[in-house]
Amino acid sequence: MCGIVGYIGDKKAQPILLNALGKLEYRGYDSCGIAIANKSIEVYKDVGRVKALAKILEPHNGKVGIGHTRWATHGEPSKINAHPHSDCAGKIAVVHNGTINNFSRLREMLAEEGHVLASETDTEVIPHLIEKYYDGDFEKAVEMAVGEIDGAYTMIAIMAGESRLIAARKDSPLIIGVGDRENLIASDVPALLDYTSRVIYLEDGDIAVVSASDVKVKQNGAVIDREVHEISWSMEDAQKGGYEHFMLKEIHEQPKVIRDTLTDYLSKAETAADLTGMGGGSLENIIILACGTSYHAGLVGKYIIEDLVNVPVRVEMADEFSLSGQSPAGNQAIVITQSGETLDVLKAIKRLKANGNRVIAVTNVVGSSVTRAADRTIYTRAGPEICVAATKTFVAQLIALYWLALPYARVNAARLDELVLELRQLPVKVQQVLDNEAEIAAYAKKLAAYDNVFYIGKGINYPIAMEGALKLKEISYIHAEGYAAGELKHGPFSLLGEKTPVVAVVTQDNTYEPIVTSIKEIKARHSPVIVLANEDDDVMPDLADSVITIPRVDPLFSPVVNITALQLLAYFVAKERGCPIDFPRNLAKTVTVE
Ligand code: F6R
Repeated sequence: MCGIVGYIGDKKAQPILLNALGKLEYRGYDSCGIAIANKSIEVYKDVGRVKALAKILEPHNGKVGIGHTRWATHGEPSKINAHPHSDCAGKIAVVHNGTINNFSRLREMLAEEGHVLASETDTEVIPHLIEKYYDGDFEKAVEMAVGEIDGAYTMIAIMAGESRLIAARKDSPLIIGVGDRENLIASDVPALLDYTSRVIYLEDGDIAVVSASDVKVKQNGAVIDREVHEISWSMEDAQKGGYEHFMLKEIHEQPKVIRDTLTDYLSKAETAADLTGMGGGSLENIIILACGTSYHAGLVGKYIIEDLVNVPVRVEMADEFSLSGQSPAGNQAIVITQSGETLDVLKAIKRLKANGNRVIAVTNVVGSSVTRAADRTIYTRAGPEICVAATKTFVAQLIALYWLALPYARVNAARLDELVLELRQLPVKVQQVLDNEAEIAAYAKKLAAYDNVFYIGKGINYPIAMEGALKLKEISYIHAEGYAAGELKHGPFSLLGEKTPVVAVVTQDNTYEPIVTSIKEIKARHSPVIVLANEDDDVMPDLADSVITIPRVDPLFSPVVNITALQLLAYFVAKERGCPIDFPRNLAKTVTVE
């Protein structure tokens, strides 16, 4: 996953690369580096974040350069493993995002030919391959090097004395920012927005040759046209806007995100996303594939679709799907991925399509790889999400799933009207949860003292317990597990006690009575219990140790309000523990590796 950037133009490259790298740090941040090309190449790199790199840089006037922020795959985070990597002569420098499968063989071959590779990385073979093939033609040498690589090789190369960036895209995003007397290349749009809003999305197999005044894209050796898109959101949308962390800002944006996503869907009502409008076929079996938080959205989707549409829904983690013996055939598949670049999801799509399944992608990123791989895309309108932990994109995914299911709801007209009305009122209900932030922060202070926490829920809120636990563990480093309330007694009960609190989602639906029983059993084992309960619940204040009040909504929509409270709870716990909330250790926002 890593972030890469390249600049060529009439300005000094160094500050531009540093600024752009800062915008890409969510992709990986264990080490970073830049290289500037003039008659020679200067490389600066180190472990740690971009701000630290800025301090050790010597000012450089060069106007061509590349940069990298790393999420280690091959070799620990260290100065020597940090990118850019160079050839023997130090005339070529490369930044790379992806993993090269045949790098051991290539390393051996290069070593036999006299190349000395210094790092443990797979990337380092690339500049050496370019060096091997260089006979005076930089472009040809890069093409030949790329031809040797098996795996994911999205990369940018520069060469001393060359006024060109040469980039290749395979399996990770790469976007060209088209400027005025300058051009940029980066892994994601926010890195480009300070300089231009005009972008070209490269596709797998593309090789781009970029100078200050020209962009040439080749596919299979032939020059092709790639459309220039205008980005409609601004850098301001991607900045903190007075909040201490992106995560808090992004949670607070949720009412707007719901409104924007619904407005978008309603304005296209004539082409409303629908499950069967994909080339016919009856709506019989649905399979949903996703990873992490998006997988939890998929699990909520199962309850939504099975409840409303009354068809069986199978939900699988995309990374496990490729291992299951039987791939379904002729089904309607929905893949959910906020980034649109998750490799496990892209691989799952290939398998689905090979078996004749129709694939709808739900994603937040326009032009991302998933949009090309799927038959059809439904965009969520969450805007840029910078915090590594997904929040507003999750809520937007839930809205997309309601929207997908509602046209097929086997309910009478009055119930359908009621549901649509409730859906439209969700922003107000979510705002009520946000207005309760101080109360949630107070409970978070207590929770921050524990090392292990269970989250429980039932029915449609079971995946919300899982997602609440995931949020807590990823940003506060507290061990947390999300369980179906009824499952806790089948083993985890042995861990209950004063030192193991339980967060229970108890908003009212047909699971209320059994979950009250579960809480009584948990209390009997002395675990402190924090519940999420509706404001008019008069049982919970006596039963639980702490009650976070949640506005009442139709049970079908309760995941949206409940997760907002759990996101805030995780946020304030992490803040209390002094964690780096937006950039948790070892994680990355876009997971383009296996
Ligand atoms: C957790 C989180 C991850 C992602 C997962 C899939 O907060 O963000 O679990 O949900 O890596 O990412 P996407 O949705 O981009 O496929």
